[in-house]
Amino acid sequence: MHNFQICDPVFERPVGRKHRALAGLARLLGVQAELVPLPDQTTQMSTAEQRINLWHLAEQVLAYGVPGDFVDLGCFDGRTSAFIASILAGHDPARAFHLYDSFEHNLGLFTNTREALLAHFQTRQLPVPVIHAGRFETTLPAELPPTIAFAQIDCGIGAPPEFHAALITRCLGHVWPRLSPGAVCVVQDYHDPTSGSASENFYPFLKATVDAFLAPHGVGAVALYSGKYSHGFFRKPGGRVA
Ligand SMILES: C[S@@+](CC[C@H](N)C(=O)[O-])C[C@H]1O[C@@H](n2cnc3c(N)ncnc32)[C@H](O)[C@@H]1O
Repeated sequence: MHNFQICDPVFERPVGRKHRALAGLARLLGVQAELVPLPDQTTQMSTAEQRINLWHLAEQVLAYGVPGDFVDLGCFDGRTSAFIASILAGHDPARAFHLYDSFEHNLGLFTNTREALLAHFQTRQLPVPVIHAGRFETTLPAELPPTIAFAQIDCGIGAPPEFHAALITRCLGHVWPRLSPGAVCVVQDYHDPTSGSASENFYPFLKATVDAFLAPHGVGAVALYSGKYSHGFFRKPGGRVA
């Protein structure tokens, strides 16, 4: 067992000639620094740091036996979903993994995102997930499983803030009652500016939206260090990890 899939080449931006030349020059000059390619924001949707966080959070709910399925709301081309599936496959392949997306937005990826998703799972010899194609407005809540152990919500497509905020609130509203005690929900783009983090704050309204949803439940979200992009998580109180 290992978690080296965090750095699977599928997540890396190919290193070009200019990058190699600059890295070579830095070595020649004895510069004690590494030239790390920035993620391509049109196709690379998670950072290595985020996958490290995802690995530990998902592994934790499995290790503690939190009941329920895994769900990924906004799976795009399934690269990150396949990564989450690899954690499930290593620990509890019997659990179902549900993926949700309209597959309407290819965000600069010049291919069919649903086909790309299936290819990512196939290449890694992972079980085919349960795919719920359609807008959240129609698939949620009817197609959510009754019990959820781990959820990820990532529906940022640069929509107007009020639209995006309403969508996040809708997703949270349907996911929350289904989360088992001890279940974890990761929210992509959750950014706490007071943390001093230099991560991107793509959606400055998102933290307030998530916090406003959680406050009446007496729960706070945690902003996680996650490199270039931001994310955070919250845990449903109760269970062995309360
Ligand atoms: C930033 S991408 C998700 C990236 C993905 N989690 C990953 O790590 O590769 C956001 C996704 O949310 C989906 N999305 C946005 N609004 C949606 C809606 N109303 N219903 C269904 N899917 C939606 C888009 O199609 C897009 O694939």
